[in-house]
This record gives sequence, structure tokens and C-alpha cells, in this order.
Amino acid sequence: MLEIKELAVEGYERVIEAIDSDRGLHAFIAVHNTRMGPALGGTRIYPYASREDALKDVLRLSRGMTFKSAIAEIGLGGGKSVIIADPHTQKTPELLAAFAEAVHSLDGLYVCAEDVGTTTDDMAIILESTPYVAALETNESSGDPSPFTAWGVFRGMQAVALRLWNTTSLRGKRIAIQGLGKVGRRLGEFLFWHGARLIVCDLDAKACREFAHEFGAEVVDPEDFFATPCDILAPCAMGGIINDETIPQLRCAAIAGAANNQLAEPRHGQQLMDRGILYAPDYVINGGGIINAAAEFDSDGYHPIRVRRQVDHIFDTLMDIFNRSDAQQLPTEQTANDLAQHKLEAGIGRRLRAIDFGRDVKSGAA
Ligand code: NAI
Repeated sequence: MLEIKELAVEGYERVIEAIDSDRGLHAFIAVHNTRMGPALGGTRIYPYASREDALKDVLRLSRGMTFKSAIAEIGLGGGKSVIIADPHTQKTPELLAAFAEAVHSLDGLYVCAEDVGTTTDDMAIILESTPYVAALETNESSGDPSPFTAWGVFRGMQAVALRLWNTTSLRGKRIAIQGLGKVGRRLGEFLFWHGARLIVCDLDAKACREFAHEFGAEVVDPEDFFATPCDILAPCAMGGIINDETIPQLRCAAIAGAANNQLAEPRHGQQLMDRGILYAPDYVINGGGIINAAAEFDSDGYHPIRVRRQVDHIFDTLMDIFNRSDAQQLPTEQTANDLAQHKLEAGIGRRLRAIDFGRDVKSGAA
């Protein structure tokens, strides 16, 4: 039996805790803000040490999604869900079905998608019980967001170059990429063809060797990454990497990469500014993926050319943030937050027509 408990959390529209002991589900869904449109955000399956840890994570992540979608003006709100389980041993079709019912209970206020610990196959199972699922592997869907994320980061680097060197060209610039996964590798390819000099690192030594061979990149040990002298440092692996330990090591002019939550704490944005390092706020520069996912809800269907144009716009958004940050003498992350907040309050980019979720599902409101 699925039990759904409403939790009152200040500043959040809805937070529910969903428990179904028979089917092994213990999940939280947080809908932070739907002023711009339905709250879209991934479903994370992770063996959290406690209920409190899971709740804290879902609140933090859903709020982040509100800002990411608001700044990109894609007519979506911020939400997220987490399931307390080990994705390798405890993820079952029954658990996913129970979770789908919890999603469905929110009547489209929240739309789930793949995230850490979930796959598009899992989303296909969830779709059997609710239509409120995005980024599926179907013909109508937007598919893998990574190429669009990588392109957005590339465009963001061009904005950095214009700001720092008065040119959008990255030719001859030394760019260090941490993580050659779905985004980092693609970003590296774009940069190679634009004439950048690449330095890469990954925990996977084979991926590094192959990339170095293919694109003439220099390889550094992961532990030496932050001290690498370069023009732009591109974290494309994990969050929290800009912190008290790494900031003193930095020998770069700018940080511009895909990783989420790069600053361990907001004060690290100020520290980067004090050191004269230009920081491209992560949720602005890595918005290409969510922009792509949102496009499958366009009334005339998903269109990659339109998405490319929207992702290109990350360049302009970042220039705007850099200019405001200069004028106000505020860290770029703070400026981005203020801009996102302004867009939210003014409803800039708000969805005007409801999304048609007209998919056939067992229990869905198709
Ligand atoms: P991925 O899982 O495909 O790649 C991550 C890579 O980083 C892996 O090759 C891994 O071996 C490497 N790595 C992990 N720890 C490392 C370390 N300490 N040093 C060096 N390399 C390390 O992930 P993906 O999809 O490429 O995403 C990269 C980052 O960008 C993540 O933080 C993700 O949350 C973020 N992001 C990704 C989006 C997407 O469209 N895939 C969208 C927005 C953000």
C-alpha cells in the first residue's frame, strides 16, 4: 500500500514523502516552485544514510532546478525526487511502479526524468503508470541531453573569452577538462576543432589515453588537476570541487564547466572573485541539457535546430551576468541568482500554454 505524507516546508509548494514497504519504496518528491511551469527534475536513487539526508538533498536539488530553469526561460519550474535505495541491488520494477503512483498523485505538478541511479529504461517503467515523465528514448523525445550541455558549455567559454581576451576565439587557449564522460568528451571535441590546446584528466586512465591519442591532449593526474596552469578550467565530473582546499591551488583565468554545484559554499564565489578568477555559474553554463529536455514539450514537437538556437543564447545570458557582476561588484553566482529571482518574480519565460501529456498509460490521466 502506498502511503503519501504531505510535509510543510517553508518556501516550497509541495513536498511529499512516499512510503510503500511492500514494494520497497521510500521516496521524497519536492516541488519547489511552479510559477514558470510544471516542475521538471530528475529522480535520484541513492542509498542515503538517513531520511534527513535524503530530504535535505531533495530540497537543495529542487530549489536549484527552479533557478536553472528560470534563468534559461524554458517555462518549467523546479522539482526533484529522491528514492532511498541502492540502485544496483534494490531497484525493482515494483519499486518504480510505486514511485510512479506517487508522481501521478501530484497531477502533473512534477515531471520526473533520468538522474543519478536511474536510466531511461526505468523511466519507461514509470511511464506505464503516469504520463508525467520526460526525456524518454522515443521518437518524440529529446533524447540524450549531453551534446547540448557540451555545446552550451562551449558557448559559455566563448563568452568567457570575450570578457577576458576581447575575442570569442578559443584558438590556442589552454583548456583543462576534468572528466571525459558524456559531456567532457564532447566538449573536448568541440574545443579541439576550434583550435584549443587541451589538458585532460579522468579516473579512467584508458579514456584519457584514447582521448590524448585522438586529439593530441596532454594528460594530468586527477589530483594535479586544480593546480594545472591554464586559461580555462572546465570541471565536468563532480560537484563541490571549488572549495577551501582547491581555490589556493588554482592557476587559471576562468572556470567554466558542466559539473553541477561546483562551489562547495556560496562564499567560494566571493573568493574566486577576490583572486580575479572569472567564474561562469554552473547552472547557467550547463543549462543546455534542460533546455533540450524542455523542448520536447513544444506545442509543435521537438526540434533540434530550435534547441540549438536556445542553447546558443547561453552566451548572451553569461555576458549579461558578467556585465552586471562587474557593475555591481558582486560574485557572478550571486548575480546569476539575482537575475533568476528577477525572472521568476516578473514571470519572464513563463509557460503560457499547458503541456499536453496525452500519453496512454495504465492509470494516467491521458
Ligand atoms: P559522466 O558520468 O558521463 O562522466 C563523468 C566523468 O567524470 C566520468 O568519465 C568519470 O570517470 C569522471 N570522473 C569522476 N570523478 C573524477 C575525478 N575526481 N577526476 C577526474 N575525473 C573524474 O557524467 P556527464 O553526463 O558527462 O556529466 C558530467 C557533469 O556534468 C556532472 O556533474 C553532471 O551532473 C553535470 N551535468 C551533466 C549534464 C548532461 O547533460 N549529461 C547536464 C548538466 C550537468
